[in-house]
Amino acid sequence: MVNRAHQKPLDLSSLTIPTHVAIIMDGNGRWAKKRGLPRQAGHRAGAENLRRIINACVEFGIKILTIYAFSTENWGRPEREVRGLMKIFARVLDQEIDDLSAQGVCLHHLGDLTGVEPALQEKVRRAIELTKHNDRLILNVAFNYGGRAEILHAVRAMLADGIKPEQLTESLFSSYLFTAGLPDPDIVVRTSGELRISNFLIWQAAYAEYYPTPAYWPDFDREELYKAIVAFNQRERRFGLVPDEK
Ligand code: FPP
Repeated sequence: MVNRAHQKPLDLSSLTIPTHVAIIMDGNGRWAKKRGLPRQAGHRAGAENLRRIINACVEFGIKILTIYAFSTENWGRPEREVRGLMKIFARVLDQEIDDLSAQGVCLHHLGDLTGVEPALQEKVRRAIELTKHNDRLILNVAFNYGGRAEILHAVRAMLADGIKPEQLTESLFSSYLFTAGLPDPDIVVRTSGELRISNFLIWQAAYAEYYPTPAYWPDFDREELYKAIVAFNQRERRFGLVPDEK
C-alpha cells in the first residue's frame, strides 16, 4: 500500500507523461560512503528507493520503466559486493513480487540469465510467470545486461533464422532485441552526475532525451522523477527533423 498522506501534491495536468522511462541507477556506493556506511547499505537503500520509484511511475501513469540493475561488467566488482547484490535481488523477488503484482506490475528481464545462480534464475522466471498478465506498468529489469551483447545476441538469432540482408529493417532488428514489442525509451535518466551511457539500451535509446542528475540513486525520489518529467516536457524532440515553421 502507498501512504500518500505525507506526499507533496504534484501537478501533472499540463504535462506529457513519457511512456517509457529508463534509468541508470548510479551512486549507491557514494551515497553510503557519504554517510560512513558500507556499500551494501547503499545498495539496500537503492532497492528501497526502487520501490518508491515504481509507486511514482504507477501514480504518474508511466507505462514502462526500464532499470539498469546489473551490467555484464558488474561481475568484475569484488566478490563480496557481487554476492551482496545477488542477495538483494533475491530478497526483493521473494518479498516484493506479490505486492508488485497486486499493483499491476508486469516484470520483464533484459539480459542473459545463464551464468546467474540457478536459484535466482528460478525466482526471476517465477516472477515473470506470476506477473505476465499485468498491464499497469511494465518493469524491465536489465540484469546481466550489456547493450553490445544484446545486439550480438540479436544478430546471431537473425542469422539462425536465415534472415536475408535485403529483409533486414530497423523494425525487424528491434524485434530481435530483449525489448521486442515495446516502444523505445523516451527519456534516459542517469543519477549521480555521471555523463555516460555505459552500454545501456544503445540501440533503443538512439532518440531518447538524456537526463543526468546529480542526485545519488537512493535520493532520486518521486519529486526528482517529477522534475525529470518537467525537463522532458521542455525539450523539443525532433528525431533528426527541423522544427515546424511558425
Ligand atoms: C549503482 O551504484 C548501482 C548498481 C550497481 C545497481 C544495483 C541497484 C540496486 C541494488 C537497486 C535495486 C535494484 C533491484 C533490481 C532490486 P554504484 O555501486 O555503482 O555506486 P557508486 O558509483 O557510487 O559506487
